[in-house]
Amino acid sequence: MHALNKETPVAVIGAGAMGAGIAQVAAQAGHPVRLYDTRTGAAAQAIAGIDRQLARLVEKGKLDAATHVATLARLRPADELEALADAGLVIEAIVEKLEIKRELLQRLEALCAPGCILASNTSSLSITSLAAGLRHPGRVLGMHFFNPAPLMALVEIVSGLDSEPALAGCLFETARAWGKQPVHARSTPGFIVNRVARPFYAESLRLLQEGAADCATLDALMREAGGFRMGAFELTDLIGHDVNYAVTCSVFDAYYGDARFQPSLIQKELVEAGRLGRKSGRGFYDYSEGAERPQPSTLASTATVEACALEGDLGTAQPLAQRLERAGVQVTRRDGAGLLRVGDATLALSDGRLATQRAREDGLDNLVLLDLALDYGRTERLGISWAAGTRQGAIDAAVALLARAGIGASPLADVPGLAVLRTVAMLANEGADALLHGVASAADIDLAMCAGVNYPRGPLAWADTIGLPQVLRTLDNLQAAYGEPRYRPSLALRRRVAEGRTLHDQP
Ligand code: NAI
Repeated sequence: MHALNKETPVAVIGAGAMGAGIAQVAAQAGHPVRLYDTRTGAAAQAIAGIDRQLARLVEKGKLDAATHVATLARLRPADELEALADAGLVIEAIVEKLEIKRELLQRLEALCAPGCILASNTSSLSITSLAAGLRHPGRVLGMHFFNPAPLMALVEIVSGLDSEPALAGCLFETARAWGKQPVHARSTPGFIVNRVARPFYAESLRLLQEGAADCATLDALMREAGGFRMGAFELTDLIGHDVNYAVTCSVFDAYYGDARFQPSLIQKELVEAGRLGRKSGRGFYDYSEGAERPQPSTLASTATVEACALEGDLGTAQPLAQRLERAGVQVTRRDGAGLLRVGDATLALSDGRLATQRAREDGLDNLVLLDLALDYGRTERLGISWAAGTRQGAIDAAVALLARAGIGASPLADVPGLAVLRTVAMLANEGADALLHGVASAADIDLAMCAGVNYPRGPLAWADTIGLPQVLRTLDNLQAAYGEPRYRPSLALRRRVAEGRTLHDQP
């Protein structure tokens, strides 16, 4: 399948934040672009804005002046919809209302040539539903850009029930020719990114609600141990709680109230209070002038540690042992169930059980649990929790051992799955369910999460790295601890574990 050739006129409808960005991308790729908006003057204003953006790029030496002039010459405002009749591709980025978008698509169907592809940048509406009622619903597809469109690489090419596969292929190649990273997705609520990302926010919000730790500590764990660009609280403050909460509610409603997508009362309250985040000056954090940013908690210890014993294999946390050895700690190796013993403390990677429960069930005295890190060989922070009966001296020894490896320990209450492990397990679970339901391929799900929301590793690949049995065990234990369907493992995960395959293996 070929990309649209560069001479094909592209029409963009809606000259708001997204429409302007998409028009810029198409014009920079070489297409003549017509921009239309019902608000008088909005299209011309948007083009003036693009002019300023490009001028800034020229000033920074990131764009040559001739390209700036040529791109601008390709962009023209349209005063009426009829002026878009010669387009080979129309991308609508108007208000997110089903009826208004449908009406627009019907007018476009009557106006444009039969070969013209009608694409929608909708984030939350069903492509099938948008196309219903058209004479040729096969020409309607989703072309979902991310904000800001000129900078974000990901484009989800979304197919509804009737969308023609050949046109999906053409949009895919066109997006690629525009320098984007396209992925194919089936039209289901949230497509890939807005669905699979929900647990990233939801688990931090729940941990906060349960008093597991404060915002600054949870954010620091996500960033420094999890490798995410931002923690959930700083990120939702940036996105805006009104916007983030509305997306969660829309996905929750679209899945008929599935507990996996349940919105957070804490976030609802912020919205009700008008604490929308950075844009209102206050969200989880205070952005007013002179406000102090809270610091994450890091435990201090005066204990000295020279040696520890490694019993068995720590699995994904195994690089910790080498790191301790490199730091001069004597590590004695013996058989066992994946435990680190230091002083009278026993350290283990969380498996989703409460520390107190695991200590009792497995007969482990002075148990300290470790959270997940993206890279145990490099992380400078790790979440820990401990059982109710763990003595202070054992906690001190565990903290001192981690300090020898250059790792600061952040305390979490005794919650199942700690912070990073439980978030990553839930992201992988959502990705696995999207895979099960044929929303996208495993490769595209991971690509979408890396290119669309900058995850440090695709959640499916991450689950494969941790080991699927460990991820499944974590989810089973979370579900048992909470007794809620929210944590139920996807059938895809259970099946792959039973078959001894990874999520990326082809069936
Ligand atoms: P916006 O509110 O900035 O812009 C929408 C524009 O559409 C306005 O200029 C408005 O005057 C115009 N408009 C409304 N009805 C129209 C009609 N019938 N015909 C022509 N123009 C019309 O909205 P934004 O943020 O650019 O979003 C647009 C679309 O993109 C929505 O479908 C949204 O869900 C989607 N989207 C938004 C993202 C975001 O982060 N803002 C990200 C990805 C998709």
